[in-house]
Amino acid sequence: MAPISLILSFFLFISPALSTNSEGNALHALRSRFKDPTNVLQSWDPTLVNPCTWFHVTCDSNNHVIRLDLGNSNISGTLGPEVGQLQHLQYLELYMNDISGKIPKELGNLKSLVSMDMYQNKLEGEIPKSFANLKSLKFLRLNNNKLTGSIPRELTTLSDLKVFDVSNNGLCGTIPVDGPFRSFPMESFENNKLNGPELQGLVPYDFGC
Ligand SMILES: *[C@@H]1O[C@H](CO)[C@@H](O)[C@H](O)[C@H]1NC(C)=O
Repeated sequence: MAPISLILSFFLFISPALSTNSEGNALHALRSRFKDPTNVLQSWDPTLVNPCTWFHVTCDSNNHVIRLDLGNSNISGTLGPEVGQLQHLQYLELYMNDISGKIPKELGNLKSLVSMDMYQNKLEGEIPKSFANLKSLKFLRLNNNKLTGSIPRELTTLSDLKVFDVSNNGLCGTIPVDGPFRSFPMESFENNKLNGPELQGLVPYDFGC
C-alpha cells in the first residue's frame, strides 16, 4: 500500500506544475515563431516555473494562463498549433501587429475564449471552421487582414457572439443570416468580395465561392 500512496501523492504534487509548464512551453513555442524587434517578449524566460510573471501574460489563481495581451507590439512572424494548448485562455489579443500566415485550426481548442482580436495583421487563408467550438466567444475581430474563402456557416451556432468584424479582407461567398449573424451590422463585412446576405431557400445552404 505504501508505494501506491507514495506514487499517488507524487502525481498529485507534480501535476499542477506540469500543467502550467505546458502552457509556458506553448507560449515559448509561440515566441520562437515571432520576430520581436522591440523586445516586447524579453521577459518570457522559459526557465521560470510558470509563465505567470511574464509581461503581457495574465494567469488565474491556479496559475493557468487566461490572457495574452500582445496588441500593437511590433510583432511579425506566424502563429503555430501550440497556441491551441492554452486551454484556459479567455483573451487572445494580437491586434495591430505584422503577423502573417494562416490562422491555426487549433485555435478552435480554446474552449474558454471570450475574445479573439487579431485585426490589422497580415493573416491569410481561411477562417477555420473549428471556431464553431468556441462556445464562450463574445468578440471575434479579424478585420484588416488578407483572409480568403467564405465565412464558415458553422459560426452561426456561436450563440454568445456579440461582435464579429471581418471587414477589409478578401472573403467571398454570402453572408450568413442565422443565429448571431442576425444582429451584426453591414460594416462588419464591408470591403470584401462578399455577395451580400444569403437568400434562404434560393441558394444552396453551403454556398461557397
Ligand atoms: C514599436 O516600434 C515603435 C517604432 O520603433 C516604437 O516607438 C514603439 O515603442 C514600439 N512599441 C512597442 C510596444 O515596443
